Amino acid sequence: MVAQNMPKDEGFDRTLSVLKEGYGFIMNRREALNTDVFETRIMGEKAICLTGSEAAELFYDDTRFRRRDAAPARVKKTLFGEGGIQTLDQEAHRNRKAMFMSLMDDEAMDEIGMLVHQYWHLYFKEAESLETVSLYEAAKVVFLQVACKWTGVPLDESETESLATQISDLYESPAALGIQHWKGRRSRSKLDSWIEGLVEDVREGRIEVDQGKALYTFSWHRDEKGSLLDKETAAVEILNLIRPMNAVSVWVAMIGLALHEFPEEKGKLKGADDIELEWFIQEVRRYYPFFPFAAARTDTDFEWQGYFFEAGTLTLLDLYGTNRHPSDWVEPDTFMPERFRGWHQTPFNFIPQGGGSYDFGHRCAGEFVTIVMMRTTLDFLVNDLEYDVPEQDFSFEFNDIPAVPNDKVKINNFRFL
Ligand code: HEM
Repeated sequence: MVAQNMPKDEGFDRTLSVLKEGYGFIMNRREALNTDVFETRIMGEKAICLTGSEAAELFYDDTRFRRRDAAPARVKKTLFGEGGIQTLDQEAHRNRKAMFMSLMDDEAMDEIGMLVHQYWHLYFKEAESLETVSLYEAAKVVFLQVACKWTGVPLDESETESLATQISDLYESPAALGIQHWKGRRSRSKLDSWIEGLVEDVREGRIEVDQGKALYTFSWHRDEKGSLLDKETAAVEILNLIRPMNAVSVWVAMIGLALHEFPEEKGKLKGADDIELEWFIQEVRRYYPFFPFAAARTDTDFEWQGYFFEAGTLTLLDLYGTNRHPSDWVEPDTFMPERFRGWHQTPFNFIPQGGGSYDFGHRCAGEFVTIVMMRTTLDFLVNDLEYDVPEQDFSFEFNDIPAVPNDKVKINNFRFL
């Protein structure tokens, strides 16, 4: 059979459209061209865009796609760091991924849940005199404390706020232009050096860390060839835990927004069990945007659904759009936590944090951590705290990545229940 021509997003380079349309870029073209796969041009090269669970299954086939040369430099210089797991393939990736997944057991989830609860309480106890709290900014601080405690990274109280800001520079800057982007690069260098110093301290016996903690495990991890990671790489990977745990603050802002936008759903959460709390946060992860696309490159020539894919082509999978794809979701534009009652999950139909396998693919190592952090936060906001929501701007921009409501979700007059 002769391959058909792939549907084309006709015109010049679309880098500006990606910046302008943000999360909607692939979804808008899926609708206009009526296809889950199309070709376009981004950053001066041909790129293939994929959306929906069927295409996601293709994207996570590691015999056809690779990661080593897929991430743009601006993402590696800020969000990912150099030499991190996101850019590894095959054996090297499996070895590194096992290092991450070895941390993710039930005991760890219980500990993280307990820490989130404890630090939220502490935050609001100490904030009593403050009039207004931004949930987004507060969560950055609370989650940095949780992340450092869990990973064994010592955190000086006087530095907590400035470190929380520097860490958020890493995920607020990859898609930004100008000063904000350069701020992200500067914060990356500072944070890398901070953690590299700690890795050296552990190796030289200058600090004692519990053997179960990530700082210890990663400092002494051996790669597939039996060598210790160099200190730069170990630091990047430790930050690959601390940074995204801090970034769960983006979804805390969205939890705050959802509780405000959908008061009838909030009402159902009073005294709710973990399952109902989880439906709500799953719907937050599905409904609101966060990580727009995952990027890979075809590693070989192949044909799929009659279309030819040429080796070496940049390929983007639409994470946001797949979670709203009409083939997989009923009324995708409606916020409906109860859709998760008896819902059938596959590795590819709900992918806010990537799809496929945790152990053998690039699916987010911290998806369960994220769920525990969000569920505990939601429980705290609904069942432990009462607050008012002052007049503010709740809107967010679809080309602001990550999107956070403009006033960062402010609350005031809070009291413990
Ligand atoms: C804040 C919410 C989070 C979002 C939206 C998110 C999203 C993602 C996405 C989209 C990927 C890449 C998937 C792919 O390339 O196919 C990823 C990978 C990863 N995430 Fe997360 N993540 C979050 C939280 C976390 C947390 C809390 C941790 C750690 C505790 C974490 C650790 C990682 C790691 C280590 C990878 C690399 C996996 C690999 O390349 O094999 N993430 N995440």
